[in-house]
Amino acid sequence: MPDALVIFTPSGKRGRFPIGTPLLQCARKLGVDIDSVCGGRGICGRCQITVAEGKFAKHGISSSTTSLGNLTKPEIRFKQRNGLKPGCRLSCHTILSGDIVIDVPASSQVHKQIVRKRPEARKIQMDPIIRLYYVEVEAATLDNPMGDFERLVMALKNQWRLDRSFEIDVQPLINLQSILKKKDRKVTVAIHCNKQIIKIWPGLHSNIYGIAFDIGSTTLAGHLCDLSTGDILATSGCMNPQIRFGEDLMSRVSYVLLNHNGQDELTSSIRSAVDNLILETSNEAGIEKDDILNLTFVGNPIMHHLLLGIDPSELGGAPFSLAVHSSITLKGSELKLKEIYSESRAYFLPCIAGHVGSDAAAVILSEGPHLKKEITLIVDVGTNAEIILGNKDHMLAASSPTGPAFEGAQITCGQRAAKGAIERVRIDSKTLETKLKIIGSEKWSDEQGFPKEVNDIKITGICGSGIIEALGEMYLAGILLADGTINGEIASSCKHVYQDGRTFSFKLWDGEPNIYITQNDVRAIQLAKAALYAGARLLMEKMRIDDIDQIILAGAFGSHIDPKYAMILGLIPDCNLSQVSSAGNAAGTGATIALLQHGARAEIEKEVVKIEKIETAIEPRFQTHFVDAMAIPHKTAPMTRLAAEVKLPKNRTSTPKRRKKSTNRENSEN
Ligand code: FES
Repeated sequence: MPDALVIFTPSGKRGRFPIGTPLLQCARKLGVDIDSVCGGRGICGRCQITVAEGKFAKHGISSSTTSLGNLTKPEIRFKQRNGLKPGCRLSCHTILSGDIVIDVPASSQVHKQIVRKRPEARKIQMDPIIRLYYVEVEAATLDNPMGDFERLVMALKNQWRLDRSFEIDVQPLINLQSILKKKDRKVTVAIHCNKQIIKIWPGLHSNIYGIAFDIGSTTLAGHLCDLSTGDILATSGCMNPQIRFGEDLMSRVSYVLLNHNGQDELTSSIRSAVDNLILETSNEAGIEKDDILNLTFVGNPIMHHLLLGIDPSELGGAPFSLAVHSSITLKGSELKLKEIYSESRAYFLPCIAGHVGSDAAAVILSEGPHLKKEITLIVDVGTNAEIILGNKDHMLAASSPTGPAFEGAQITCGQRAAKGAIERVRIDSKTLETKLKIIGSEKWSDEQGFPKEVNDIKITGICGSGIIEALGEMYLAGILLADGTINGEIASSCKHVYQDGRTFSFKLWDGEPNIYITQNDVRAIQLAKAALYAGARLLMEKMRIDDIDQIILAGAFGSHIDPKYAMILGLIPDCNLSQVSSAGNAAGTGATIALLQHGARAEIEKEVVKIEKIETAIEPRFQTHFVDAMAIPHKTAPMTRLAAEVKLPKNRTSTPKRRKKSTNRENSEN
């Protein structure tokens, strides 16, 4: 009988095999990616395939289920125990009986691609660093004195062709013999990095998990993922408990310097928050927390050091020396986490520089500027903005001291982005009528039903994205002048502008409490935005470019601000507005990629050492750029692309008289 033609989709791999060959065997021979935990014993159900039915003129065959044998005994047994969808077969026990086209669904592929919501985001190819293998271990005999660990290694070699020198962690070694007894010496082993046995279960164990952590100075987030499907099963976040030791990073470093045991306090507070997130996410997903075997961490250098238990004092001043640049892998027990399996592995992505952490490395991994020809600028806006510029040929990174103004701190009515915060503002440039939107309500303030919603929600302040929009709209309406002065000349014609001591303020909301923007608030935002712009401009200068192809705003703040207002106010350099996008929590996404795709770790480790690090604090040109960037949108940059899309006011500064007053005031304030 001639061999049958087997074609696998979507890979397109094809070959001829004798009738009677199990399909999984055909797939293995052709290098088709089909998953298996049980090694072809018909018990894990990972190897399921379907038949593509019909005439395939391209291949010259007709394909139908009749080209496969009937359901085999193991398949019937699996179907009775676990269910098998109509049309699905276990490839390990399905016998070839004619020409056929086989479809391998994504759920049965080891290296499946994860489809992400943002179409422009890079794809994740599943390839976790920890894999499961089911084996049946030979029983000991009097005439064969081999130890059980060696028998286990032998089983891995014979049943999985894993012929290498394995090592085993203490915990699975201690439990090995008792686990072997439980299910007739049938066990599942979890192997880290193709080498290290880190856990053993009796019988078949199909599911293991990992959590990707983004450790921010203000908030922490953990994404619990299934390490076989890549699905995010639960996400949980919390405020960073270190806030009680200081709002910003430098005050936490000061706390370490000034207090005996200060670093221990900060380290144990962040570790207990991580422990809580492990508990919360595993409860939410309804999984055993002991099945969480892998963690990835990203954060700024100070958070990175504190979580590792490293004193961050060196990061408090020049030359901002990191204790370690490279990636690190530790055991859960070495990290002194209480809620995680002791032999689990925690991977810390590499830091870029003393001021640019592994969170920025994770953003690179997520957004992939190093893979593109186009020049991309990424700004991750936090209390310290991390700025990355470049393409596949060259990348630069810097951080810029924006301070907490963008997060609502240092602003009179500022608050974090939470329910009740003003987040959107519009000003009619003719009537100067103002309308707004708050977090928690879908209605604009001039829409019917808004007063009732406000009654329930209560307006409590203005968040960072709200103040960027408010100032942008004030500038477009002529209420804010290019030098950042609130225009007192229109106080008589605009009910929102009022004299407030020697300067003017802008009332956004007349209520309880009143929400308003003072001249000092504008100055705080100007300082923050000038620092951000100057950092970006400095990198452009270092790269000898005047144009950027694409801008990505990352981080919680970056994902909330409207790119148009960010550009109107001059937070970022001029660029086509259609090429400015928000990446959301790109650092968390990068941590997730490193969790699910083992190869991405090597990729970012290699990339990070090539990045040119720019230290803004010692660059004399930074100051020049900073001064020019204080103006709105900018003192000298033509902003031609922005002007093509938005009608910008003619450059208007305050009147000479007002300027004099303003200068005196500023001098006295300084
Ligand atoms: Fe496990 Fe087929 S490989 S059921």
